[in-house]
Amino acid sequence: MVDFHSHILPGMDDGSKSEKESIDMLGEYSDRITDVFLTPHFYPDRESPNEFLKRREKSAEVLRNAIEGKNVPVLHLGAEVGYYEGIHNSEEMEKLVISGSRLLLVEMPFRDWNLRMADELIELNRRFGIRPVMAHIDRYNFGKGPNKKAFQHFLNNRGLVQVNAEAVMSMLSRMKVVSMIRKGEIHFIGSDAHNMLMRKPNLDIAIDKLIKAKSEDVLKDLDENVNKYINR
Ligand SMILES: [Fe+2]
Repeated sequence: MVDFHSHILPGMDDGSKSEKESIDMLGEYSDRITDVFLTPHFYPDRESPNEFLKRREKSAEVLRNAIEGKNVPVLHLGAEVGYYEGIHNSEEMEKLVISGSRLLLVEMPFRDWNLRMADELIELNRRFGIRPVMAHIDRYNFGKGPNKKAFQHFLNNRGLVQVNAEAVMSMLSRMKVVSMIRKGEIHFIGSDAHNMLMRKPNLDIAIDKLIKAKSEDVLKDLDENVNKYINR
């Protein structure tokens, strides 16, 4: 399995604060998790993509040295890009895709979405072949309520969706997650881990919950999606 979303790179954002914390976080993964995507926040009003990439490279270098000789999952660089108006006009988004793929993890705003927002994401794919992945759909009530139209429009136009492992912990939302994966409305799962306190890497717990709930088939689906979209 792959952890699609994490904030483990040290000193990059509100995630890991030090290489020690990063190593502790990576120590939380069992051998079942073969790969972890490192997706620090990118906010276009704070820095340019190039500035972000420079910082990310430095942080990745620190982490690479720190894990040398240690048994940890394979790490891949990416970003969690904060949606902004006009995102579809920037070819630079190409620089922020998850390495080995054309996938761009996008964090939608925590206010109501409109169709234009979904259109901008769809446009990224049409213009540049960049496939946006909506981050943690569980944090937006699974795209229900006021966001429903925009979410459906996005899904109907090859939109991809990630859910946080947290959503699998309670029974009701687990049932929702399982049903959406089976319907092809959720494609990836990630821990969105930020630290070793309240937001630890929890993908293993989620996998156990899904196995216990006799939903191994969705684990297979999630794995297949990763293989379909990413060259590892
Ligand atoms: Fe995140």
